[in-house]
Amino acid sequence: MQQFLPYAWFQGQCVPFEEARISIATHALHYGTGAFGGMRAIPDPQNEDTVLLFRADRHARRLSQSARLLLTELTEETILGAITALLKANKPTQPIYLRPFVYTSDLGIAPRLHNIETDFLIYALPLGDYLSPEGVSCRISSWTRQEDRSLPLRGKISGAYITSSLAKTEAVQSGFDEALLLNSRGKISEASGMNLFLVRDGQLITPGVDQDILEGITRASVIELAKTMDIPVVERPVDKTELMIADEVFLTGTAAKITPIRQIETTTLNSERPVMKALKERLVAITQGLDPAFEHWVSRISLS
Ligand SMILES: Cc1ncc(COP(=O)(O)O)c(C=O)c1O
Repeated sequence: MQQFLPYAWFQGQCVPFEEARISIATHALHYGTGAFGGMRAIPDPQNEDTVLLFRADRHARRLSQSARLLLTELTEETILGAITALLKANKPTQPIYLRPFVYTSDLGIAPRLHNIETDFLIYALPLGDYLSPEGVSCRISSWTRQEDRSLPLRGKISGAYITSSLAKTEAVQSGFDEALLLNSRGKISEASGMNLFLVRDGQLITPGVDQDILEGITRASVIELAKTMDIPVVERPVDKTELMIADEVFLTGTAAKITPIRQIETTTLNSERPVMKALKERLVAITQGLDPAFEHWVSRISLS
């Protein structure tokens, strides 16, 4: 069974993980009316009493915005306060993943977002590599990424992950590691839980925020970082066949970090990835708090 950290945040306080229980009649469980976040916390390589959070402010803002899309309020201060309390209670000694979740906590039926109670919880688990850092094989999914006119795609709405789940399982059951989803206009959108980048002729290209992507925090960071490294960046619609002839293709996400794609359908991609390698080395140093130019992207949380 999956191991979780001993304490969870539940109903406004830290409680032992096993005591954080909800009813089988919980509204969000049936209707997918929740929104979550996903953040990594790693022990500070320079101070054993501290853990590091990457872009905690951005993660808190996106979750707060997701809550607003579900017509409920959850402030960034509440999120960051709960995360700090939970880290102090658990005192993690290995890299962990934090999963905050805001959801309709009322009991009973009727899909709605008005006249309903909501709650906020967080649990945590140890997390190493989510995808192989050596690279993954991808299939183009038969499932289409949802459209913003049918679902608020700028939030991490739990119900939306049915499409990710179908796409991921279809990919794995047909012998691939990961799924790439096209949007309803037939352009590349993203993977089941990661954004996508490609490199062509030294230019870094990624589908824009109008391509039905989740506005990934790793994606935004890679774009900002590339600009400081004099790598030209273009956000534009991407065709499937561009991936087949790209010099490099890689995925970004909090769980996946930066993961290269080594194969798409039957096409084997280049194994030399100088642009991705340079970006990844820099991002790893930043997340470990070792890059003074990007200190402001890292929060140091004291565990004492
Ligand atoms: C659908 C989807 N796209 C992209 C991402 C990457 O976002 P981030 O870099 O903020 O983790 C995630 C992960 O949260 C995701 O679930």
